[in-house]
Amino acid sequence: MQVFSPSADTWLRAGLAALVVVVLGALLVMAGYADSTYATQAGWAKDQDVPFSHKHHAGELGIDCRYCHAGAETHADAGLPPTHVCMTCHSQIWTGAPMLAPVRRSLAENRPLRWHRVAQVPDYVYFNHSIHVKRGVPCVECHGRVDEMPLSWRAHPFQMQWCLDCHRDPAKRLKPPEQITRMDWSNWSDAQAQRYGTAAIRRWHIDTKKLDNCGICHR
Ligand code: HEC
Ligand code: HEC
Ligand code: HEC
Ligand code: HEC
Ligand code: HEC
Repeated sequence: MQVFSPSADTWLRAGLAALVVVVLGALLVMAGYADSTYATQAGWAKDQDVPFSHKHHAGELGIDCRYCHAGAETHADAGLPPTHVCMTCHSQIWTGAPMLAPVRRSLAENRPLRWHRVAQVPDYVYFNHSIHVKRGVPCVECHGRVDEMPLSWRAHPFQMQWCLDCHRDPAKRLKPPEQITRMDWSNWSDAQAQRYGTAAIRRWHIDTKKLDNCGICHR
């Protein structure tokens, strides 16, 4: 006696094949989400209450990054500028501009401006600016061409793999520390960068074998 019709086996196979396709598809979508620019926020500009433009201030006016991010060289946090830093200029220029109303209010009420952040890592990750900046990892390596951003966005996904890629082979990313805020390095050839970086790693005894130990970033 036949329990299953001859076609049942075919249906079973087709069903199993379909299930495999669905599961694989779901896994791909999940993996794709984790790496998508939406999840990592890379490349997405954020709206701000005050439409502050790095393109204008850092790029065109040429104000150095450290004028506003004073901690970058000396502290773990680069920090965001207190309102009086804006007011050194904006108490003289564009004094009545509606765009700057939140800045004037912040000064009058002695309350810091609020910004939608674009560059952040989770609390369980230890990051420190001065360690990097003192060794000549330029701002542009991690934050991209900030001087060309009208509104800020995250240039690179701040995922673990991105940190590790540099930690395992930082040589060609290092530059002279006294030019840490320079954005355009296109006149350095790959060979020149490699030569400079290899010497810098030796000079400062940077131990790349240790730089991917878990305890370095998860303390
Ligand atoms: C060294 C001087 C200086 C400092 C410091 C400064 N600004 Fe400006 N800002 C300017 C000048 C100059 C303009 C352009 C005016 C024009 O285009 O005619 C400007 C324009 C602006 C504008 C108009 C939009 C734009 O970018 O053209 C905004 C908004 C602004 N600044 C916000 C700020 C904020 C917020 C701070 C503090 C974090 C700040 N500025 C610090 C000089 C400065
Ligand atoms: C005139 C002041 C000023 C100068 C000069 C300036 N910044 Fe900023 N920066 C700001 C302000 C205000 C914000 C917050 C608003 C925003 O995200 O655009 C900010 C935000 C940032 C952020 C995003 C921080 C976050 O988590 O949201 C980065 C990264 C940054 N700046 C890097 C730089 C670099 C690199 C330079 C030099 C090329 C520079 N800045 C020059 C004022 C300045
Ligand atoms: C090795 C990569 C790297 C370099 C180099 C670097 N940054 Fe950052 N920056 C980060 C990371 C990661 C964060 C997020 C830190 C956090 O969430 O604690 C950040 C955050 C910031 C912020 C937000 C405020 C803060 O302190 O958290 C500013 C502003 C900033 N960086 C400016 C700069 C400037 C200016 C330079 C160059 C002088 C620079 N960064 C160099 C990786 C870097
Ligand atoms: C473009 C290159 C580059 C990137 C990207 C980078 N780093 Fe680093 N990092 C370095 C270099 C070079 C050193 C070594 C400094 C030394 O040994 O003097 C370092 C050192 C460190 C240290 C200190 C190590 C110690 O000996 O205590 C920490 C912590 C750290 N990085 C965290 C991070 C985290 C977290 C990220 C990602 C969010 C990151 N770094 C991304 C280049 C980079
Ligand atoms: C150079 C810095 C660095 C080192 C070294 C490092 N991590 Fe991470 N790790 C990060 C950053 C940055 C994140 C946050 C990733 C994100 O927000 O997507 C992270 C996230 C994680 C997470 C959370 C889940 C995830 O993948 O997002 C785990 C678990 C983790 N790390 C384990 C480890 C282990 C285990 C090691 C040693 C083999 C290690 N990490 C070494 C920087 C580092």
